[in-house]
Amino acid sequence: MANQESRGRNFVETSTRKGTLDIRLPQPSDRLDQDAEHCSVLVDGEWRDIRFHDYDEIYRIPGLYEQLFHGILDCRSPDVIGKVLKEELQQDGFEAESLRVLDLGAGNGLVGEQLRNIGVSTLVGVDIIPEAQQAALRDRPNVYDAYYVVDMTNLPASIQTELEGFKFNTMCCVAALGYADIPPSAFRAAFNLVSNGGWIAFNIKDRFLSPDDTSGFATLVRKLREENVLELLTSERYEHRRNVNGEPLHYVALVGTKHADIPEEFLP
Ligand SMILES: C[S@@+](CC[C@H](N)C(=O)[O-])C[C@H]1O[C@@H](n2cnc3c(N)ncnc32)[C@H](O)[C@@H]1O
Repeated sequence: MANQESRGRNFVETSTRKGTLDIRLPQPSDRLDQDAEHCSVLVDGEWRDIRFHDYDEIYRIPGLYEQLFHGILDCRSPDVIGKVLKEELQQDGFEAESLRVLDLGAGNGLVGEQLRNIGVSTLVGVDIIPEAQQAALRDRPNVYDAYYVVDMTNLPASIQTELEGFKFNTMCCVAALGYADIPPSAFRAAFNLVSNGGWIAFNIKDRFLSPDDTSGFATLVRKLREENVLELLTSERYEHRRNVNGEPLHYVALVGTKHADIPEEFLP
């Protein structure tokens, strides 16, 4: 959405030294939950208001995702998930080269890049919007072996067959669960593409694992552990990024071993 007023009183200037785009964040006094956060970006001489959850718009502007979330808001999640997965692999004496990874909600490939850095050999991305795939191909053309634009809650049979053909032994999902993003049913569809004994590495906002969770993930994760569908090897609470007011947003990184498919009745 173009907005000539964005330079006005509702926005404050953030440092532009962390990248080449001119980005402004709302006044710290505005209390916004994560799915309502937004910024203003100068594109071709015009200020545009963009919600953080309008990923299509963000991915269309090269460098915006990286500059906004990683440069200004200090997002650490792709690094943290790469680190905790690597530590668990080392502890288990497992070579990263033998991982065949499904990256759920892959976005523009920042997680894929980390997975390549730790030595993963086979890597497939899936995301629900074509702009994510286009940005990954534009900005990180060599990261994914394949990248599917697909709704994991409604997987066409032909793509299900193709994905099964990769014989995944790992699923990663970073900064994509809950809110209006990936629901439990999509998580289940991706989880069930991984072979038993495989690795599951994901993160989730701490609130979505708490008793007052409404996303459905707290109940799902509890059942997965109780029924030993997922054996949790590590869980680490950490600062995912800052919000637009500069306050920390905490997530939990979880890595575990899959022992069985998630039955449909586990879904909320
Ligand atoms: C915050 S981005 C995270 C991207 C990447 N994992 C990262 O950490 O940089 C969340 C991504 O999840 C994707 N997403 C949302 N709902 C989805 C769904 N149902 N199936 C697949 N991807 C989805 C969005 O399009 C977006 O690219």
